[in-house]
Amino acid sequence: MDIGERFDRDGFVVLPDFVDPHRCDELKAHVGELLAAVDPEVDGALTVFSTTEQTHAQHEWFLTSGDRIRWFLEDGAVDAHGRLTRPLPLAVNKLGHAMHDLDPVFDRFSRTPELADLADALGFVDPLLLQSMYIFKQPGIGGEVVCHCDHTFLWTEPPSVVGFWFAIEDATVDNGCLWAIPGGHRIPVRTRFRRRGSGTVTEVLDPEPYPTERLVPLEVARGTLIVLHGTLPHWSGPNRSERSRHAYTIHVIDGTADYLDDNWLQRSPDLPLRGFRVASPPPGR
Ligand code: FE2
Repeated sequence: MDIGERFDRDGFVVLPDFVDPHRCDELKAHVGELLAAVDPEVDGALTVFSTTEQTHAQHEWFLTSGDRIRWFLEDGAVDAHGRLTRPLPLAVNKLGHAMHDLDPVFDRFSRTPELADLADALGFVDPLLLQSMYIFKQPGIGGEVVCHCDHTFLWTEPPSVVGFWFAIEDATVDNGCLWAIPGGHRIPVRTRFRRRGSGTVTEVLDPEPYPTERLVPLEVARGTLIVLHGTLPHWSGPNRSERSRHAYTIHVIDGTADYLDDNWLQRSPDLPLRGFRVASPPPGR
């Protein structure tokens, strides 16, 4: 059974050794350098997460991050006085959402001939890299990500989003690996998260909860790529271990589908979406 057939049957495919572990280490080291250059007292995030109008400010920080590189903090990483409770590299929840287009190291990691061929095998006609996230899942405070499917957040007509989830570090049940429902991509999508006015709303399309008892853990070694169908319910638990669980994700849509203009993620026309084989524009374009 080939990759496309397994993907159609299960809604996900686990591909061990897809990325050389040294390339995972390089990406992790690069992220460390990016964070080392951030002064949390000057950069916006800490201000955002410590203001009295916290919710609104955090929402704005998120909603305008679709074509930028921003960092987001773990819940519990800021005290009541607006100070970090731990060093920044251990307080960050994720980076998002356009590293693949704005950062040369992420760009190279995200666009390889192997990924381009894989997108073909999955049936993409015009794959476009929409969103990237570097997820830290910090030891002790890395929280649960509730059961959801990615189509809820990145809606196209017809549905086309596929998640590419790279284990940058080993992922186990202890440190909060992914769980998924085999064949669950055929379950009707429960919610849609979209913009409404200056905020967002989660529309309930089907009030039935996902059958989370059918989730199975996907424990994988670093370098593994897990491909997730856009309507596949998946979940990850809190990190109760002493080890972090770094992962990098890109979400890809098909350019033949209609990307709705009330999706939360909107990009400046100055930064058009690109595929796996389209080189970055020269500097100073
Ligand atoms: Fe997801």
